[in-house]
Amino acid sequence: MVKPDAVRRGLVGEVVGRFERKGLRIEAMVLRRMDGELADQHYAEHLTKPFYPPLREFMTGGELVAMILVGDNAIAVVRAMCGATDGRKADPGTIRGDFSLSNRENLIHASDSVESAKREIALWFPGHG
Ligand code: PPS
Repeated sequence: MVKPDAVRRGLVGEVVGRFERKGLRIEAMVLRRMDGELADQHYAEHLTKPFYPPLREFMTGGELVAMILVGDNAIAVVRAMCGATDGRKADPGTIRGDFSLSNRENLIHASDSVESAKREIALWFPGHG
């Protein structure tokens, strides 16, 4: 998911282009807003964390791009390309390492397992599969 900071900064093409050039295939894609209800479902495991209120406000504060990327070992490959959650710690050459100085405005969200990918795809692309 290309987060609202990346959309605002005009980095959608940069981010999506990296995945395409890597060889991943875009199977579905949508530009839309996340409302509070969807945020609470999407981030269900973080609802009680202290960082959730600012995360929710940020994620519902602008349009984002949700997509399904397909390819060999796609989850691990995408997460490696994103870099560490905190852009200040992410390695240069990763998306966050190259473009973010924050652990909130960190440009991108990526599913961390097959289970979370299935759950998130069902939330964002209910007709899929
Ligand atoms: S955890 O508890 O280790 O699973 O959390 P982590 O993976 O580090 O972060 C989960 C998501 O929370 C976002 N985050 C924050 N948002 C706002 N403010 C603060 N301080 C903050 N710290 C972490 C982080 O960007 C992760 O977002 P996603 O969308 O999951 O990448």
